[in-house]
Amino acid sequence: MRHLIDFGDLTRREWDQLYARADKIIDAPEKFIDVCRGKVMASLFYEPSTRTNFSFQTAMLRLGGSVFGFADPRSSSVAKGETLKDTIKMVSGYADVIVMRTPWEGAARAASLYSDVPVVNAGDGGHMHPTQTTADLTTITRLRGSVDGLSIGLCGDLKYGRTVHSLIKALAKFRDIRFFLIAPRDLAIPDYLRQFMRENGMPFVEVTGLEPVIPQLDVLYMTRIQRERFVDPLEYERNKGIYVLTRRKLDRAKENLLVMHPLPRVDEIAVDVDDDPRAVYFQQARFGMFARMALLSDLANQPRMSPDPVEIGKGPLCRNPNCITQTEHYLPPLIKYNGGTKCCAFCDSPL
Ligand code: NCD
Repeated sequence: MRHLIDFGDLTRREWDQLYARADKIIDAPEKFIDVCRGKVMASLFYEPSTRTNFSFQTAMLRLGGSVFGFADPRSSSVAKGETLKDTIKMVSGYADVIVMRTPWEGAARAASLYSDVPVVNAGDGGHMHPTQTTADLTTITRLRGSVDGLSIGLCGDLKYGRTVHSLIKALAKFRDIRFFLIAPRDLAIPDYLRQFMRENGMPFVEVTGLEPVIPQLDVLYMTRIQRERFVDPLEYERNKGIYVLTRRKLDRAKENLLVMHPLPRVDEIAVDVDDDPRAVYFQQARFGMFARMALLSDLANQPRMSPDPVEIGKGPLCRNPNCITQTEHYLPPLIKYNGGTKCCAFCDSPL
C-alpha cells in the first residue's frame, strides 16, 4: 500500500496485516515508541476535526515521530489562492507522510497524484473516511473476535456520512454480513454505493425505522446528520433529530450488541446510553489512535518516490458541485467504472 485514499483500494490481506499490527500495539504500545523516530507527519486539516486530527497527532508522537501542519486553512497559503497541487508538492518536500482532511470530495486522490510521500485521506467531504474505518474494524474485531457473520445496522445520515461510505467499502471484504440501512428517504445511501453492494453480493434492507430492527443487530453504527453538507437547509431541518437512541430502546437489543458512533454526537445517542456496557464509542475513538499508529508505522517509513507525470486537464468532467475537479482545473480527466457505470475517478459521482 502506498497511499490510503479509499478503503476499497486495500486488499483483505493488507487489512489483516494492518489489524495484526494494531492489535499488537494495543497490547504493548511501549514496544513501538521508536518506530517513527526521525519521521515527520504533515497534518493538513482544511475542515474542523477533533478526534481524527488529535488521534493522528498522538499516534505519530507515540511512535517517536513529529508533526507539523494546520488545523485552519486560513493560516496557510491556501488563503492566498495557492492550488492544492502546489501545496502538496511543497509539503511533500518537507514531510514523510501527509494526512489531509478537506471539504472537497476526491481531494486526497488528487493530492496523491503529486506527492513524493504517502497521502492519507482523513476525510474528503461527504465521500470517504478510510481511517475512521480502520478504527471501526479494529473495534469490532477486538470486541467481537471477528467481523464475519455479523448483522450490522447503519443508522442516520447515510447520504452525506462519509464514515458509512468507507465502512461499506471495507465490509465488502468480509463474509456473511447482513446490513440494515436505517435512514430517512432523503438521506439514503448514494446510488453508487447501493450498486456497489449489489455487485458485491452484500445483502441489505433499507428501512426508515430504527426500533423495529434493533433486536436483530450485532452492531448498531449511529451517525450524526451532517448539517454542513446539506445544499438545502430545509432538508436539514426536516431530518435533524430524526433518530435518538435511548437506554429504553436498547431494552430489546442483544446483550452483546456494540453501539458505535464515529463521533461527534449531537443528539442521536442520549447521554443515558453512555453507561450501558454495550456503548463502545469512546473506546472506538481510542482504538482509532492505535489503528492510526499501525498505519503510520508503515506509511511514514516508505521511501520517497516521485509520482509519474499526469495529463493536464481542461476543467471538470464531473457535475458534483463538491468535487475537487470543480476548483482545481488542471487535474487530469480521470474516469473509472463502478460496475457498468462511468464515474468520476476522484469523487465517484456518475458522469
Ligand atoms: C466523522 C467525520 O468527520 O466524518 N468524525 C470523525 O472523523 N470521527 C463523523 C462526523 O463528523 O459526523
